[in-house]
Amino acid sequence: MIKIITRKANIDDCENFVRCYLNAYRGLEFYAYSTKRDVRGYFKWLMKRDEKGFFSADILVKTQSFDWELIRGVGFIACDSNWYSKYENNYVCEIHEIFVNREWRGLGIGTLLMREAINYAKQKSRDKLELWVGERNYEAISFYRKFGFLEKEKNGCWIRMVKYIRYPNVR
Ligand SMILES: CC(C)(COP(=O)(O)OP(=O)(O)OC[C@H]1O[C@@H](n2cnc3c(N)ncnc32)[C@H](O)[C@@H]1OP(=O)(O)O)[C@@H](O)C(=O)NCCC(=O)NCCS
Repeated sequence: MIKIITRKANIDDCENFVRCYLNAYRGLEFYAYSTKRDVRGYFKWLMKRDEKGFFSADILVKTQSFDWELIRGVGFIACDSNWYSKYENNYVCEIHEIFVNREWRGLGIGTLLMREAINYAKQKSRDKLELWVGERNYEAISFYRKFGFLEKEKNGCWIRMVKYIRYPNVR
């Protein structure tokens, strides 16, 4: 049995982020950073872009002795509500990053993180969420479709996907 807790990410999450990122992108290295140094730099960049739109997931796992063990930073989502999209000709809420540790996939962690992003976009009165996904990252593409993201332009090996929020001010 597990409980999932989502919260704002902070600077202390850096090393968990690096570990989780390198785990999550195994097999997808073509679309990702591969060194700890680069991932650390990426974490700092995401924090600087929009710290308040950066969320992390922790889990509580029931042990054999019926205690709860806390595992921090098993998934992350980084949104940016100040992103200018030249494709939309407007400011959007950009999802720069989402990933979940491979060991804890399929349990709804990605869904809870995505809900945080959608709520955050609404809070910021953005009516569009935008992201770019690798064209062969089929699992992520089907995950995004489930939330109503639509496939738009292709740029090299990347596909732009957009989700329109009809009533951004209604939560
Ligand atoms: C995409 C990702 C974040 C999903 O995280 P997750 O915690 O496994 O997602 P959830 O458990 O909330 O799954 C939600 C839905 O997404 C879909 N989904 C998730 N994993 C899937 C998979 N391996 N294959 C197909 N669909 C999948 C399912 O439809 C699932 O719905 P269900 O509850 O009806 O089964 C995760 O697979 C991941 O970290 N991928 C690697 C990193 C990555 O590619 N990030 C995106 C970069 S653009």
